[in-house]
Amino acid sequence: MKFLACSLVPLLFASLAHSQEAASKATCRNVPGSPGYPSAAKWDALNVTLSGRLVTVVPSAKFCTTLPGGACTDDQWESALFRSTIPGAMDLVNWEQGYDLRPPSLCLRNGTTCGQGDVPLYAVEAETVADIRAAVKFSSAHNLRVAVKSSGHDLLGRSTAPSSLLIHTHKFQNISFVGSTMTVGSGVYAKTVYEQGKANGKIAVGPAAATVCLGGGWVQGAGHSALSPALGLGADNALEFEIVVASGELLKVNQKSHPDLFYALRGGGAGSWGVIISATFHVYPTFNATSSAIVLATENNTVLASLVTLHAEHVFDWDSVNAGHYIDIIRNASTNASIFVLNTYMPNTTASQSKTLLAPFLNASLALPGVSLLSQDFTYGNINDALFQDDDSVGFNAVSGSRLIPAATYRDSPSAVGEVFKKLLESGETEILGLMVAGGSNQFLCGKVAENAHISSAVHPAWRTAKMHLLSGGTWDDSASLAEIDQIRHLFQKVHLPIIEEIAGPNAGAYSNEADVLEPNFQTTFFGPNYGKLSAIKEQV
Ligand SMILES: *[C@@H]1O[C@H](CO)[C@@H](O)[C@H](O)[C@H]1NC(C)=O
Ligand SMILES: *[C@@H]1O[C@H](CO)[C@@H](O)[C@H](O)[C@H]1NC(C)=O
Ligand SMILES: *[C@@H]1O[C@H](CO)[C@@H](O)[C@H](O)[C@H]1NC(C)=O
Ligand SMILES: *[C@@H]1O[C@H](CO)[C@@H](O)[C@H](O)[C@H]1NC(C)=O
Ligand SMILES: *[C@@H]1O[C@H](CO)[C@@H](O)[C@H](O)[C@H]1NC(C)=O
Ligand SMILES: *[C@@H]1O[C@H](CO)[C@@H](O)[C@H](O)[C@H]1NC(C)=O
Ligand SMILES: *[C@@H]1O[C@H](CO)[C@@H](O)[C@H](O)[C@H]1NC(C)=O
Ligand SMILES: *[C@@H]1O[C@H](CO)[C@@H](O)[C@H](O)[C@H]1NC(C)=O
Ligand SMILES: *[C@@H]1O[C@H](CO)[C@@H](O)[C@H](O)[C@H]1NC(C)=O
Repeated sequence: MKFLACSLVPLLFASLAHSQEAASKATCRNVPGSPGYPSAAKWDALNVTLSGRLVTVVPSAKFCTTLPGGACTDDQWESALFRSTIPGAMDLVNWEQGYDLRPPSLCLRNGTTCGQGDVPLYAVEAETVADIRAAVKFSSAHNLRVAVKSSGHDLLGRSTAPSSLLIHTHKFQNISFVGSTMTVGSGVYAKTVYEQGKANGKIAVGPAAATVCLGGGWVQGAGHSALSPALGLGADNALEFEIVVASGELLKVNQKSHPDLFYALRGGGAGSWGVIISATFHVYPTFNATSSAIVLATENNTVLASLVTLHAEHVFDWDSVNAGHYIDIIRNASTNASIFVLNTYMPNTTASQSKTLLAPFLNASLALPGVSLLSQDFTYGNINDALFQDDDSVGFNAVSGSRLIPAATYRDSPSAVGEVFKKLLESGETEILGLMVAGGSNQFLCGKVAENAHISSAVHPAWRTAKMHLLSGGTWDDSASLAEIDQIRHLFQKVHLPIIEEIAGPNAGAYSNEADVLEPNFQTTFFGPNYGKLSAIKEQV
């Protein structure tokens, strides 16, 4: 999991729809200097209402200078747990930067200047429902843009917005298990869910990451999991939400009480509906599983393409046990050698059964000239332990985009998948390719729960026929020029997407939690046929 932790794959919490929409409405919101922007006295009065829990926010590099010693250690800088406690710290630090502001406003680690960039001005360190209600009412009354951050574990770091009021739900740490349900505060980390799940003999559908909050952006954006092929998406398992909507009202939302809002909260876009206080999920008796990591080295892009094709030919081998799995490709740009990591999670499967299921793929891989085995590891035990991570490794610059690739592509033309990967790698700037195969939930949809789930959730229908969620993108160092950064930020739309469409088709959906913020047709790309209904619901709340 080391490779995964350093890559794009497990970063989830997001509020993309919010940021897209807010971008187009940016001029409608009050910002400092607007006639309607709250005066200092009004902010002070809000702070009194909040018992002093209104704070000013600074970018993470500036925050570090306020620590004893005047700096963050590398361990702190790269820790998602550390960043989750700091309102202005995004997991991917590029999202703190105001590249598009005129002039650009940046705050880099160890830099000599620091601009506020895209970091909010104020944050509410909420401790109670009343804090959230007060913050939401204040923002509605003064037409302020709101950003919501639970842990801030967000691939695209979108728990921020320039000149916004940030509502930080990190302190909402309640968790309880009752029968076949679990209720989590919106600040509860996945790692806590797995620790407590194990202690309670249960397993919740959740991500293979430490700091993703199940009751935050994860479920609102659909909630992908390594358990999704067996047990559905996070949204499919959500039963009830407590949420503060724009009026400041606290609602308990379930299928009976508010069917439309319930539908929207299950997959209809993170951060779009209000501020979640808690979410209740269906949970299952825990079971054992084998998790495995197979690490292969490939000599060049041609060899990698053959390996990806082989993987595509074998991708249905593990459906018999409803396995979830991820592949991750890490390229060495100077040699074109790549490392190919395959992580699998096989429910109710022993290590030897898992080895048997993977042997045809592994044997055929090692028969390809130019492929070698670096390591393989099979671990049998409680599924909570398999999904548990202690922390997530973040603190770098990265952007990516997403497309859901249909299972039919894998069945009909596996070699096209390999060719697309080869082209992506040859397109130049690609630093990371992450890809997970787990999303289709096809097995789950045959079950009873699924029928209900399908009807009443806003999950993009492309999930139901997808075999893979493909992520590709680029990273850069702080030394990159603004022109280089701009090129990488546009890489997905300009270079990768035309290649990916060869296997995804022209109208494929994306996983909105991990998608590109620059999607031109985000309405259909993120929400597909659900967009019309979702926008009508949004008008109401
Ligand atoms: C809010 O009040 C607290 C306690 O009085 C104070 O420490 C804090 O600086 C205030 N926040 C702002 C933004 O002024
Ligand atoms: C910043 O300084 C710290 C020590 O304070 C060092 O460990 C780190 O590598 C530096 N980072 C960058 C990006 O220069
Ligand atoms: C968390 O649980 C405590 C004890 O049951 C309760 O008093 C509190 O209101 C809960 N907090 C939230 C935010 O629901
Ligand atoms: C890429 O490969 C070269 C040659 O083997 C090696 O020196 C370098 O460290 C590698 N780079 C990375 C990022 O692994
Ligand atoms: C694992 O096995 C148990 C016991 O047979 C069963 O109840 C459960 O549904 C299985 N879980 C999965 C994900 O296959
Ligand atoms: C894979 O290779 C191993 C070792 O060469 C062999 O024992 C095993 O039978 C092969 N399995 C398959 C499925 O080809
Ligand atoms: C890639 O590596 C394979 C295996 O070593 C070799 O046969 C092939 O010629 C190489 N192709 C390129 C384009 O370097
Ligand atoms: C699950 O795995 C653990 C650790 O290997 C083992 O002690 C336990 O008996 C297994 N439980 C079941 C139900 O197989
Ligand atoms: C790596 O691939 C690129 C793009 O195909 C090519 O231009 C470059 O020469 C290759 N580098 C090496 C070391 O083979």
